[in-house]
Amino acid sequence: MVDARDLRDEGERLGLDELRALQRERLRASLRHAYAHVPFYRAAFDKAGVHPDDCRELADLARFPFTTKADLRENYPYGMFAVPRERVRRIHASSGTTGRPTVVGYTENDLSLWADMVARSIRAAGGRPGDTVHVAYGYGLFTGGLGAHYGAERLGCTVVPASGGMTSRQVQLIQDLKPGIIMVTPSYMLTLLDEFERQGVDPRGTSLRVGIFGAEPWTEAMRREIEERFAIDAVDIYGLSEVIGPGVAQECVETKDGLHIWEDHFYPEIVDPLTGEVLPEGEEGELVFTSLTKEAMPVIRYRTRDLTRLLPGTARVFRRMRKVTGRSDDMVILRGVNLFPTQIEEIVLRTPGVAPHFQLRLTREGRLDALTVRAEARPDATPEDRDTAARAIAAAVKDGIGVSVAVEVVDPESLERSVGKIRRIVDLRPRG
Ligand code: DLL
Repeated sequence: MVDARDLRDEGERLGLDELRALQRERLRASLRHAYAHVPFYRAAFDKAGVHPDDCRELADLARFPFTTKADLRENYPYGMFAVPRERVRRIHASSGTTGRPTVVGYTENDLSLWADMVARSIRAAGGRPGDTVHVAYGYGLFTGGLGAHYGAERLGCTVVPASGGMTSRQVQLIQDLKPGIIMVTPSYMLTLLDEFERQGVDPRGTSLRVGIFGAEPWTEAMRREIEERFAIDAVDIYGLSEVIGPGVAQECVETKDGLHIWEDHFYPEIVDPLTGEVLPEGEEGELVFTSLTKEAMPVIRYRTRDLTRLLPGTARVFRRMRKVTGRSDDMVILRGVNLFPTQIEEIVLRTPGVAPHFQLRLTREGRLDALTVRAEARPDATPEDRDTAARAIAAAVKDGIGVSVAVEVVDPESLERSVGKIRRIVDLRPRG
């Protein structure tokens, strides 16, 4: 058998000192590139009184200003580009729910780097040249579909570009084309699970051996659920359009201990979300990325709003990030208590009698916000089972998170199903 370590690419073979030296060199070049070619960065650096030459050590990056989603919006569509538009080979846009989307661009080299990083990710997940990869991330402006697609091709796989939706056909394709790997959001994987069962096909009996899940937060409890129901290895892939798309970080199948960040190209920091101060390794805070090699749209200290922590490398030299707890925008503050949908996911998934489908409804009662957890009953649950489950969820939220919520256990198949990124929070509070 081939030792997986022999398949590592050049970047993955670096020693820690070599990696840091490479990052230093690339960081300086990336800061210079941004400063020279993007008026926004020149103005921001000048205002902060810093110059790319001030960055001698990696820690000097902390002196540079942050970039936020609002900055990208204000420079919509092409203001953040560092190359003439003619050198841009592709555009993607992020799924912004309000206002203008944010547009991102790639040169030919950027597209190649992206394919390399996704290929590296699929390999870390256990994929090999010759595998068939079913891509059920959406194709289009979203980076999931095309990002996964070109990465799988780069690795030497056969790609089935299924995209999202037409769920019954997805099951058919998996049955007929026999992919070893599926790339899809974890919530859509659950929708596929329902469809397998509806068609009377055993989800544990497919050709699938690995699922590469990302684009939304998911928990260890969800990993167990999916691994058990499909008899596959479920690993986490992370990324965001502003940084490149999927393939910024990936969990290795042999350790499943958090996601190795491909930090030879994307330099991570964790900062205090309120003060912006860089936090020591291991502390939880907001993930911030600086691109080290991107041409069309370099990002300097981009605030992801994703909350996680950095840990030393294990299966690879690169640092790991813990599974994302949630986005700061998805945090619900209920009577002073912070709550993330992932915390509810952990509870719902360990409660007997309910299916792994849930939704959080935010309402206002008088001047106070209230949260209702709506979880779906399993088809075989009796009315008593439902009551027991509702009480168990409410008690677990009260004990574990420290806040009272209402719980409704609703009929099977009554909650909206995901076809891509799921929306967990339904905000029914009056506006303004
Ligand atoms: O979701 C890129 C992607 C596609 C990643 C397919 C993985 C798989 P955006 O639409 O720009 O890009 O959304 C990025 O999604 O800031 C996180 O909040 C969330 N996200 C992405 N991956 C994960 C993950 C793509 N593995 C935003 N765990 C990010 C938790 C994730 N959240």
